[in-house]
Amino acid sequence: LIQPVVLSGGSGTRLWPLSREKYPKQLLPLIGADSLLQATVRRLEGLGAGELAPPMVVCNEEYRFVIAEQLRLMGQPGTIVLEPTGRNTAPALTLAALAARRDGTDPVLLVMPADHVILDTAAFQAVVRQGAALAAEGAVVTFGITADTPETGYGYIQSGAAFGGGDGSAKLIARFVEKPDLATAQSYLDAGTYAWNSGLFMVRASVWLAAIGACRQDILEACQTAWDAGKTDGEFVRVGKEAFGTCPSDSIDYAVMERIASADGGKLPPGVVIGLSAGWSDVGAWDALWQVLPKDDAGNVAQGDVLLQDCTNTLALSEGRLIACVGVENMVVVETADAILVAHKDKTQDVKKIVDQLKKNK
Ligand code: GDD
Ligand code: MG
Repeated sequence: LIQPVVLSGGSGTRLWPLSREKYPKQLLPLIGADSLLQATVRRLEGLGAGELAPPMVVCNEEYRFVIAEQLRLMGQPGTIVLEPTGRNTAPALTLAALAARRDGTDPVLLVMPADHVILDTAAFQAVVRQGAALAAEGAVVTFGITADTPETGYGYIQSGAAFGGGDGSAKLIARFVEKPDLATAQSYLDAGTYAWNSGLFMVRASVWLAAIGACRQDILEACQTAWDAGKTDGEFVRVGKEAFGTCPSDSIDYAVMERIASADGGKLPPGVVIGLSAGWSDVGAWDALWQVLPKDDAGNVAQGDVLLQDCTNTLALSEGRLIACVGVENMVVVETADAILVAHKDKTQDVKKIVDQLKKNK
């Protein structure tokens, strides 16, 4: 059995002004009619009944009604695990593993960020099937994306020997380095043996609990105490606020993945990487969204009331008022009721700095 676990904790500040605290990017229909979260769940349709448990979403309690409604609208009500505060992905996954084990079963968790785009669903499902078999046997499975720029916001995975037979496409992780600096990232790119970590993981619930216990006993203990103090309330699973508040903050990548790949004396499960070539994008910022949206012949994306004259490679998105652009290239223009963003497409990472300024002024 595969238990989908959708991690929905990010705030998506680089997609301001569409992405807001009250309505973060994964809950918005940025591509098509589905929100990114709904698309994440829909991506699994067809994997096979009996193979797949109803989705589990881990999110801040503030978003429980929106998320419950989005799942209901797709006819896929599931379990929603509510965090009183964000403690990053390692505690979030630990709560999910505890929730998955509550009926005594030990499913393979398919951990999925709520805010990614994957264009080729069939290719994605094929690697999930491959990963499920390896995770069922006790491995922690990651999915590697061909690295083509020295991104510093990703984890890097160096693959080693073939793992688990099959067609040889699954490899042992030789090294996992989370968010290296630019020079290091460039050296990995030059070496040619590293892939980006997609942020998707497959691992049995019990294997994750043992791994986080071995690496971060403090996180496991805080999550277990929070779990024991919690209660189920319909589709919502609540955990003890006070105990979870004492839980240290850390990511799956730093807390466990980097250590799995180093010589751990066999205390940790094997880490495995499978290549994922399926049009993956983490749509972190406007340039990445421009990449995955359908474009006209001049490379423009226009949504809403937009007029473009002699523009190239520009993204213009209007929620209400007319946007008109003349003779510009590589621009991002986003209009909402209370804010307008005008940015160069190469600088959209820095939209985060505007949001920081806004928070300071508040
Ligand atoms: N429930 C919950 N609680 N979810 C969370 C929390 C939390 O406290 N923090 C983050 N998340 C969710 C985010 O919403 C996102 O969907 C996912 O977990 C990953 O978190 P990010 O904060 O976006 O991680 P990242 O992008 O910096 O890095 C990860 O993803 C990269 C690929 O996009 C790492 O796994 C990298 O190694 C990887 O390359
Ligand atoms: Mg991310």
